[in-house]
Amino acid sequence: MTTSTITKMTAPPSTAYKIVDVPEAYADVIKRYGIPGTFVSSSERESPWVPFGPNAAIRHLLFDTRHNIFSNILWMKSGGVVGTHKHRGTVVMVCLEGSARYLEYDWVAGPGDFIFETPGLIHTLVSDHPNGVKLFAWLQGPIEFYDDKGNFVETLDVWWFINHYESYCREHNIPINKQLYI
Ligand SMILES: [Fe+2]
Repeated sequence: MTTSTITKMTAPPSTAYKIVDVPEAYADVIKRYGIPGTFVSSSERESPWVPFGPNAAIRHLLFDTRHNIFSNILWMKSGGVVGTHKHRGTVVMVCLEGSARYLEYDWVAGPGDFIFETPGLIHTLVSDHPNGVKLFAWLQGPIEFYDDKGNFVETLDVWWFINHYESYCREHNIPINKQLYI
């Protein structure tokens, strides 16, 4: 029986301020099939605020059509409501500014607070804050929106979000930022 050494990492093993040459057995495969990550700065030139109703806007950050994933910042500009919706996938959110809550739950999210939403949840997002809220969101899968009588209206997915972004860019002569697409 052989014994092997187990290393338990408790801190980053290198603090060297330099690019380290790391071995990679499949570098050629990664070079052929891997896709680069992306970067979108906070500048509106790279991604504008696109109106989402009279009191809200969405700043699109990422579209992944392979996995129906989309990421953005939702901005409710003052207290108000973003309509009742049902999730068919998962959502990760972090509150950046202001505050928001769901009418169905007893918590209020403020700056730095974390929210995780799962398939099957049905809820109504509101902000009671005078300055509204900015929520960073990483969303996977479709979201169904309903009117105030509970009637289904439309499913929002990665295709809806791409169209939302590109339609606004076309109308305002803003170049499409390819960094948003992975
Ligand atoms: Fe939600």
